[in-house]
Amino acid sequence: MAIIYNEQEKTYTIQTKNTTYQMAVNKLGVLLHTYYGRKIENDNLSYTAYGDMWPYTPKNEEIKGDEVWARIDHIPQEISCFGCGDYRESAINIRHADGTMGLQPIFVSAEIKSGKYSLEGLPAFYGDEGETLVVTLKDRVYDVYLHLYYGVLPEYDLITRSLVIENKTNEKIHIEKALSLNLDFNYGNFDLVSFEGRWAQERRFQKAPVLHGKTQVFSTRGASGHIMNPSCMLANKNATETTGDVYAFAFVYSGSFLISASRNIQDNTRLVIGINPENFDFTLEGGEKFQTPEVAMTFSYNGFEMASQSLHKAIRNNLCRGKYKNARRPVLINNWEGTYFDFNADKLVSMAKDASELGVELFVMDDGWFGKRDDDFSGLGDWFVNEKKLGCTLGELVKRINDTGLKFGIWFEPEAINEDSELYRAHPDYAFKMPNRQPTLARHQLILDMSRKEVRDNTYDQICKILDSANITYVKWDYNRNITDLYSCEVPAEKQGEIYHRYVLGLYELLERITSRYPDILFESCSGGGGRFDCGMHYYMPQAWTSDDTDPIERLKIQHGTSFIYPVSTMGAHVSASPNHQTGRITPLKTRGNVAYFGTYGLELDVNKMTDEEKTEIKRQIKEFKDHYELIQRGEYSRLISPYETDSLYCVWQVASADKSEALVCAVKHRTEASTHPEFVRLRGLDETKYYKVNDDKIYKGATLMYNGLMLAESWGDYESQLYYIEEVK
Ligand code: GLA
Repeated sequence: MAIIYNEQEKTYTIQTKNTTYQMAVNKLGVLLHTYYGRKIENDNLSYTAYGDMWPYTPKNEEIKGDEVWARIDHIPQEISCFGCGDYRESAINIRHADGTMGLQPIFVSAEIKSGKYSLEGLPAFYGDEGETLVVTLKDRVYDVYLHLYYGVLPEYDLITRSLVIENKTNEKIHIEKALSLNLDFNYGNFDLVSFEGRWAQERRFQKAPVLHGKTQVFSTRGASGHIMNPSCMLANKNATETTGDVYAFAFVYSGSFLISASRNIQDNTRLVIGINPENFDFTLEGGEKFQTPEVAMTFSYNGFEMASQSLHKAIRNNLCRGKYKNARRPVLINNWEGTYFDFNADKLVSMAKDASELGVELFVMDDGWFGKRDDDFSGLGDWFVNEKKLGCTLGELVKRINDTGLKFGIWFEPEAINEDSELYRAHPDYAFKMPNRQPTLARHQLILDMSRKEVRDNTYDQICKILDSANITYVKWDYNRNITDLYSCEVPAEKQGEIYHRYVLGLYELLERITSRYPDILFESCSGGGGRFDCGMHYYMPQAWTSDDTDPIERLKIQHGTSFIYPVSTMGAHVSASPNHQTGRITPLKTRGNVAYFGTYGLELDVNKMTDEEKTEIKRQIKEFKDHYELIQRGEYSRLISPYETDSLYCVWQVASADKSEALVCAVKHRTEASTHPEFVRLRGLDETKYYKVNDDKIYKGATLMYNGLMLAESWGDYESQLYYIEEVK
């Protein structure tokens, strides 16, 4: 049993393999948050839920004395609502029909169920092996209910939280804020680790102290975005990769979000996560419910690595779905950086022929094959083949590619539309536009109003027609701008505040329809590179293009930052040409390969232009990648030396098998200096007592490699890298 109810103490305790989460109902029926941290068996931890007896602090009206547990602004709570004395950042704000604001939720009942809950119309972690706790609370006055959902996957130390707001009054209420989680800590010395970026620079590690006031990351863009990722970690000041307390959070949502941490009165900390209240105003008629997306969280007492590894396993096994979640995915070549818009069928087939000789298994035709699309000014929305450009039908092209031995994949940007397109000329109302304003273009395009079923149906029909017309086994689903001009033409004025969220719900509905209709297709999500890299999208697509920046040295920071939350198996990574198209940097082909190994590994260049020597190297890489595929994709991932580390010339990553029988270590030199000395890197995840052979050569004891370290080979020149295969000697 992962969830335990103690009737006498009125505590609900969630136990995972290594952690404990506890809540308790106090004398007033307030649901206290009493603990989240390292495992504690069989104890009531509610002594920590106290408030100071300061003057001016609101307390519940029924309490006549100075009981500390009634100080609502001080005590840690499972759900904090605006309006009744808690001045900290709240999770919920309701405007009632009479114009009053606020909720005072009081415990009504709780239910423990086997299996992890699922959410209708929203992505969520799943698992029959898990458990669910549903706690129902009701406002003291109004018939407004909150149902708090806690899902538990004990093996991965994963707890999820989502909630439902239910309006049982006969009148309409407005939800002005519906965050999924508030998590209270009764101390306040945390850093907030988050992942910031921009186009081609996604998810770089950043750390900021949680101060009095607020430390926030957020998106107001209608999508999770390049700029900040919907995930974070709360870490002890001195936490390292392997020491210290670290809480990690991933929001399972692809729209605008808010993550806000604040150090409060009494020096306690509150973290809130949910849909960004900016541009959000949801009307609930009497009898209606609102479901928030879920937040997944884990706790580690062994630093960042343990938190990352728990999330990696849970995302890989209990969030990603479909045939390819665990099956080996084909090594692909994508023509984007090889040709951009300038291609026809003959060019693609010639690339496929060369690629097939190297061991590539799938050819992906990127942007430019449809409508009128020779640049990015026109064509989006017209998902029919430009046969004139290709020189043949799609079926003929796919057959020719298949004849080279490669499977075929295709690019779509289904949520976008160019004004210069047949679809726009026929249905200008399909795009988001405000009645009295010129719409704002980005990359010369607008966004389709996916909150409307008619628009989704049109996109669905067009995509299915293409996918049914040929032997297509892979789809890249792109999304290259964020929403502006948010206005849905069929919705009354007072419901326009629902559209941001309804867009995301519409997108999820469309993705569910398409991915379930084509279970054999591998779907890869993309958004101008990694602009919508989140757990919401991973529910539908097991991998996502990590960044449009394919420079392997830049990728060190991008993939390193991404790895704090997301597993290697989700990170699209390709070998591209040198000099690199985004930076002009020249790097060894081997290094480009080694970095792409710590992702899905593929190619993104004009293979026809490669020298014989380069082709031989790619052939070797593809074989090496396939040989280590299982280890790379399913191994325990460790960040041994960070690319931000100024004392080292190297960034070093490792994957080790769960049974500690093998590991792969990749060391990439990102800075070149003269007069260097050998560097040592301490490996992790090996068995102290076992012996290991390094690159089929020298033998070391596991303890030696972990506590004294592996000596990195010295290298000459810029951006060299080494790969070490560590194998147990049996
Ligand atoms: C985005 C993607 C690229 C490519 C282009 C095509 O930028 O991230 O990989 O597909 O669009 O326009």
